[in-house]
Amino acid sequence: MELVTVKIDEQEVQVEKGTTILEAAKKIGIQIPTLCHLKEINEIGACRVCVVEVEGARTLSASCVTPVGDGMAVHTTSPRVQHARKLNLELLLGDHDYSCPSCIRNLNCELQDVAQKIGIRDIRFAQKKSKYPKDRSTAALVRDPAKCILCRRCVSVCEKVQTVRAIVPLERGMKTVIGPAFHEALTDSECIQCGQCVLVCPTGALYEKENIDDVWSALGNKEKHVVVQTAPAIRVA
Ligand code: FES
Repeated sequence: MELVTVKIDEQEVQVEKGTTILEAAKKIGIQIPTLCHLKEINEIGACRVCVVEVEGARTLSASCVTPVGDGMAVHTTSPRVQHARKLNLELLLGDHDYSCPSCIRNLNCELQDVAQKIGIRDIRFAQKKSKYPKDRSTAALVRDPAKCILCRRCVSVCEKVQTVRAIVPLERGMKTVIGPAFHEALTDSECIQCGQCVLVCPTGALYEKENIDDVWSALGNKEKHVVVQTAPAIRVA
């Protein structure tokens, strides 16, 4: 096993070659905020909340997908890093329905948690309304594109863990949305309502139906028993 030495916030650490900056920092107790990252399942560097400054590099690096190099010096809280993290998060929030008091994930939301830790008090960008409606078509799950931050954790878990691939990214740019192919309703897709996407969603974009009346109404008020296929919960890093 080849080891490399890296300095993070002036602390030296030895890690195996290929380890990411995020993992190396964690090893010495330095917590870097993350949103899209899900260890070994969703490592796509999409949200840019985990950016750090590597000495000698022109641009900031996403720590969750950047491997350490021998002799590398990294800064995780420099003014440049803090400014970029805040801006990236403000941009995510500008495209997010932040009606937090009425959200099912209020006080249990990773986006809210990271925003608080980073110190977001104001969002400089006007809130955009989602063009896509809520999907309450299945018996157990609700999909709300207005709360989605496009982290793709749900897409990865559906494809790589459950091997179902019921939801995928659709459209491009500002129109991007996560959902079943051809914008069909979740109930008409391959979705087996296992709930793994709900477990990994960092916001309230995917959640379980909150009361049994909703479930029965989705079933046309005919079914007496709701059978939801369950799978073992996966580990969220
Ligand atoms: Fe690293 Fe999202 S957590 S880019």
